Amino acid sequence: MTEPAIAVRGLTKIFPVPFHRQSITAVRDLDLRVEPGEVFGLLGPNGSGKSTTLKIILGLVSPTRGRTEIFGRDSRLVESRVAVGFLPENPYFYKYLTGEETLRFFGRLCGLGGARLRERINELLDLVGLTKARKQRLGTYSKGMLQRIGLAQALIHHPKLLVLDEPTAGVDPAGSREIRDLIRDLRHRGITVLLSSHLLAQAQEICDRVGILADGALVREGRLEELIAIENQTELVLENASGTLLNEIEGLAARSNARVIERRKSTTTLERLFLEATKK
Ligand SMILES: Nc1ncnc2c1ncn2[C@@H]1O[C@H](COP(=O)(O)OP(=O)(O)OP(=O)(O)O)[C@@H](O)[C@H]1O
Ligand SMILES: [Mg+2]
Repeated sequence: MTEPAIAVRGLTKIFPVPFHRQSITAVRDLDLRVEPGEVFGLLGPNGSGKSTTLKIILGLVSPTRGRTEIFGRDSRLVESRVAVGFLPENPYFYKYLTGEETLRFFGRLCGLGGARLRERINELLDLVGLTKARKQRLGTYSKGMLQRIGLAQALIHHPKLLVLDEPTAGVDPAGSREIRDLIRDLRHRGITVLLSSHLLAQAQEICDRVGILADGALVREGRLEELIAIENQTELVLENASGTLLNEIEGLAARSNARVIERRKSTTTLERLFLEATKK
């Protein structure tokens, strides 16, 4: 078996509440495995423990019990984070720096410099679609642009694992579409992605596997298509079918003890309609 990109075993995090007797259990006895090359979605309602789990995996918060590893290395070790890029829930950037300066700053923090850094910055600005806005200060960036510069920042040192906390929250449909396309693109380049989200339709589109957290505990986990498949139903999409043909199919189904339970026009998604209608 290959080494997992992320392994979480028996993870529990209890936050004491100062001046109170009770405490908050943010994560309960969590086991999780993220395989190399997959996009894993940690889903759950507000306060279910998604961000806390991500922060423990990244070694930013210490667990009360349990272990987390990145590519086989304990999260508490600095080396575990060498090949990891992180986009936090509410990233903070210096608003007086331009997009380009921001990436230069983070690149230098990662020990990059000179022509290699310049090339990497150009490559990343192009990848996240911010080449035109490279000389603009971040104070003038939209929420979508900030998320994209955040993604570029997380990618600066060619990480093997990318951890994204709510990457499309607060971003409009076009911006969020771009971010999702980018995540898919990264997956094709072999980068493992662990993301958290409560935007289910979006997660459904990009995740290979998901885990659902409720009140700190993992209540479902698995391959997305298996989790959401309805075992005894099959969809058939036909083009140019006449009413007669459809009736014949229904008749055929009935004769073999199957049943057509729904017959409707194929639809596009509201997102596609919205993007089409608001396209500049
Ligand atoms: N530093 C902290 N001190 C005390 N309690 C905390 C701390 N961080 C998180 N919590 C609590 O732990 C629980 C889980 O929080 P967490 O931020 O992990 O949830 P989440 O799933 O990321 O939520 P959201 O969707 O709102 O981002 C919440 O009840 C939260 O109030
Ligand atoms: Mg969160």
